[in-house]
Amino acid sequence: MTSILKTTLGSLTLPNPFILASGPPTASGEMIRRAFQAGWGGAVIKTIHPDGMEIQDLSPRFAAWTGTKGELLGFENVELLSKKTVSYWEKEIRSLKQDFPDNLLIASIMGDTDFTTWQDLAVRAGDAGCDAIELNVSCPHGMPEAGVGAAIGQNPDMVRDLTKMVSAVTGVPVFVKLTPNITDISKAALAAEEGGADGISAINTVQCILGVDIQTFAPLPSTGGNGTAGGYSGPAIKPIGLKMVADISRTVSLPIMGIGGISRWQDAAQYILLGASAVQICTAVMWNGYGIIRTMNKGMENYLVQNGFDSPDEIRGAVLGRMQPHHVISRTIRVEPVVSKSEVCLQCGRCVTACRDGGYDALIMTPKGLVVERARCDGCGLCLLVCSSKALTSVIRSG
Ligand SMILES: Cc1cc2nc3c(=O)[nH]c(=O)nc-3n(C[C@H](O)[C@H](O)[C@H](O)COP(=O)(O)O)c2cc1C
Repeated sequence: MTSILKTTLGSLTLPNPFILASGPPTASGEMIRRAFQAGWGGAVIKTIHPDGMEIQDLSPRFAAWTGTKGELLGFENVELLSKKTVSYWEKEIRSLKQDFPDNLLIASIMGDTDFTTWQDLAVRAGDAGCDAIELNVSCPHGMPEAGVGAAIGQNPDMVRDLTKMVSAVTGVPVFVKLTPNITDISKAALAAEEGGADGISAINTVQCILGVDIQTFAPLPSTGGNGTAGGYSGPAIKPIGLKMVADISRTVSLPIMGIGGISRWQDAAQYILLGASAVQICTAVMWNGYGIIRTMNKGMENYLVQNGFDSPDEIRGAVLGRMQPHHVISRTIRVEPVVSKSEVCLQCGRCVTACRDGGYDALIMTPKGLVVERARCDGCGLCLLVCSSKALTSVIRSG
């Protein structure tokens, strides 16, 4: 691996910006070991909890929304926390750090409503040698019913108090993993910063009900016909994650691990351009395995070299200045469709229908092909999006 992928995350460094998020791919030391061997830069351990906290998972606990070719669009889970004891993880952290000193190993933790239980977990994981702690104040299912997980993350005062208490007892950097199930995530990020956090991880899953079987009336996923709302992840949540990471970047000056729907190196680059220092990935690995890291590392490396950058650090936040209030964006630029490749136009009429029923009725299909009535076109761009043959492109009219 070339050093061009070396990434800085606050006071920490890692060989590349790709980190396994806390979840099934980090459920055991053996799995994390295989992931590091495959080329992952770091891993966040499946959330560790006090041994006395009863964790019993549902079966099944996943549901998927797939496209016509079987590709994953969105994923729901109602899974709880790690099935291993605290002492198991202490041993694994020691062993993993001994064998992979350059990889970032982060311990995700969740105590109960008595915050001293979080302190105890943080001290034990820190003493075992993990590089950072991640406070899971964002799990949206099951745990909030017990007053923890997202029940804490949705309350900035609790986020501040918990972060302060944990930071007071551990010498390792503390990251706070925030929930998107909140009106304004930047308030929670600010509370974490005020509490002394060293960084932010965002986002955890988005609350959802993936679907309902309309014949059996069972919600998805269902256990014996009943279900519970879960957490949404995978490609569908990337736009939500990007927006929240941009909001956090502009609010606090802490390093951010961007999370949500990343399955390609290009997704990761987008998070970094909007202010993340590194990224975490869970669902794409559950669907495709650890091996996706090879194309991710290669793709990111090529992108940086081709554009003359020496590290992912150099592109961090480069797009933030272009994200502006709505009223500031130019009104003089208008896009207009043109049939640039009439030979590939299928004459399917989709653009005409979309423009007639969802736009400005500016397109006409004639025996000679598509005609754009410029006087009616309002420049919304819908026709360009519905054209599957890419026969339409846009020209920009200014002034
Ligand atoms: C099955 C499953 C289990 C998860 N378990 C945890 C967990 O134990 N702790 C945690 O902080 N996040 C957990 N997550 C959330 C992920 O770490 C991540 O924040 C989320 O899935 C969004 O990223 P993705 O779209 O790359 O999956 C879990 C996600 C999934 C899909």
